[in-house]
Amino acid sequence: MKLWEGRFDKPSAKSLEEFNDSLSFDKKLWRADIRGSVAHVKMLGACGIISQSEADEISGGLDAIYADIESGKTEIAGAEDIHSFIENELIRRIGETGKKLHTARSRNDQVATDFRIYVSEAYSELVNNLKKVISSLLDRAAEGLKYVMPGYTHLRKAQPICAGHFFNAYSEMFLRDIERVVQARERAAVLPLGSGALAGTSYPIDRKMTSDLLGFIRPCENSLDGVSDRDFVAEYLFCCSLIMAHLSRLCEDIILYSTEEFGYFEISDEYSTGSSIMPQKKNPDIPELMRGKTGRIYGHLMAMLTTIKAIPLAYNKDLQEDKEGLFDAETQVNSCLSIMSELLANISLKPAKMSKAAESEFCCATDVADYLAKKGMPFRNAHAVTGKIVRQCIQNNRTLQNMTANEFKSFSELFEPDICEVVKAKNCAKARTSFGGASPSSVKANIKSIKARLKKY
Ligand code: ARG
Repeated sequence: MKLWEGRFDKPSAKSLEEFNDSLSFDKKLWRADIRGSVAHVKMLGACGIISQSEADEISGGLDAIYADIESGKTEIAGAEDIHSFIENELIRRIGETGKKLHTARSRNDQVATDFRIYVSEAYSELVNNLKKVISSLLDRAAEGLKYVMPGYTHLRKAQPICAGHFFNAYSEMFLRDIERVVQARERAAVLPLGSGALAGTSYPIDRKMTSDLLGFIRPCENSLDGVSDRDFVAEYLFCCSLIMAHLSRLCEDIILYSTEEFGYFEISDEYSTGSSIMPQKKNPDIPELMRGKTGRIYGHLMAMLTTIKAIPLAYNKDLQEDKEGLFDAETQVNSCLSIMSELLANISLKPAKMSKAAESEFCCATDVADYLAKKGMPFRNAHAVTGKIVRQCIQNNRTLQNMTANEFKSFSELFEPDICEVVKAKNCAKARTSFGGASPSSVKANIKSIKARLKKY
């Protein structure tokens, strides 16, 4: 039965139903729809818009439907959308009183409310999964405190860093994602219900009460905006997009660092794949697939931004397009986060390869220049002298680590024997004790701070 068939002489065309109906995907909102309706009906009863016994009968009926859908006894089918399904089911079960549920309400404020309930909860799941990833990263960072590896710029070896610094960088990104999600959730938890179709209602409703019952922050303050605002959907998708951006960067580093060429990480067999033709292969399918899914999530964000572009006030059916992308993003991003936390726990670090790499390609050259500058040579001159040392090393197939103190001295009188210690990668990393720097002591402080900031959530 259609909720609106009264004014029509003829039934809908089959093709219209197929095109127009949303039950196939919005059935996911069933819990939110029932919760929204229970709050609404309690408010109607409390305000005397329907009698208290009617309110109790309706909310009892809704509770029973909830239980039966949950247990699988009631199947969601045979209606235009989830809102029609629940209302029809209520009327089928409790009769005439059920027809009072939709008093002072429209599907426009109803669907906006349901989706906000859904998205608010979906944010909690993101936070939980982000926390799991950070917890895996923190474990690896603690392990990495003992190791030195090269840090990169332009994907060329740049300066030695404590390996923990690498993992903490990603924790910082995911921590920002948590902060963003929590802030975005505050904008999602604003209640449209009571906006009616577009203009509010003439019934003496108490929107603050409904908002409190649903755990929302406040009722929205403009009914036209309330029924048609889908910023919260775009914001959820933007949060997902940035999470995927961060995941894809981590994936890229894991893929690179687990190659033979880098060799800093090894992904365990359980989290690697093979080739049907090349028997020797061990492929990083998980991070590759995750990197690939990033495009799909960005796509959902672009789709939503385009759907809300130029939508005239207030509700338009275009807005029904808000759901499928978000549902898919939710599934994909949570599964990416969850497998990423497993993957991180199943990577072994290869300290020998890392530290060897941290001394190759003149990774410690900045420290030679800094050595001279700390002894009074202007940094620009120190840079030039070190450049000459590097050039000569390249010509003679030498490294900074196998140069003698006297050889250094031939470039500047400022060099003393301790330069040979200074150019060891481990010492270069150790020396970067600035706040937020790559020394083990700074990394340790960073770990502590990440843990403290994480406690808030
Ligand atoms: N299925 C619709 C949606 O998702 C529900 C709202 C219907 N409202 C309307 N005026 N047709 O947007």
